[in-house]
Amino acid sequence: MAGTPLEPEQLTQLVSDLGERGYAVAPALIAIPLVRRLFQRLRAHEEAGALERAAIGRQRDATVEDRVRLVEAVWLDRDALADRELLDVAELIRRAINRQLFLGLFEFEAQYLSYPPGGFYDRHIDSLAGSRNRIVSFVLYLNEDWRPEHGGELDLWADPTAAGAPVATIEPRAGTVVLMLSEEIPHQVRVAAAHRRVVAGWFRVNASTTERVDPAR
Ligand code: OGA
Ligand code: MN
Repeated sequence: MAGTPLEPEQLTQLVSDLGERGYAVAPALIAIPLVRRLFQRLRAHEEAGALERAAIGRQRDATVEDRVRLVEAVWLDRDALADRELLDVAELIRRAINRQLFLGLFEFEAQYLSYPPGGFYDRHIDSLAGSRNRIVSFVLYLNEDWRPEHGGELDLWADPTAAGAPVATIEPRAGTVVLMLSEEIPHQVRVAAAHRRVVAGWFRVNASTTERVDPAR
């Protein structure tokens, strides 16, 4: 693998935090050279007009969506070197989660997200009601010059019914990785004053049955 080497202890810590608290935060998990190449890929997608207004879940519902989310998205592509290197890192994380937490994660899907200035994402849970397939959410931040006054923090709550102040607030700084149990951890993205760039992914179980094939997207 040509990608960022992860220290085994770092990986073990990340996954045990995920198991104990339902979420894990690792600043500087992904080395800046790879983060920079991912950032450049996303910039190129933006310039090519390749991004689409992100749908919530798999059904696009523009009327609801515009009130809860302002962000554009494009899927990662294994044929692009930088994307593949990140997907290889995700594969190491997937295997560590399965080894330590026995979640039986089957695959990983990820997209670039681009929040224009004024972008946000209201409180939500990632897994879709009635389709138990997104199990662990992954977020990697790509913003090297992020400053506190840019806002755009990720707030997390401990469980689906938690109200009041978040248990964690994370600045979207380059290289930081966040993992969350997709069905357990509500989260929101505060309004960002600067262009906010992210890779968001989901580790999934194989929810296919003989009656219903479960596509990745
Ligand atoms: C998402 C999400 C978090 C972020 O895409 O589901 O919650 O920090 N993203 O952009
Ligand atoms: Mn989310």
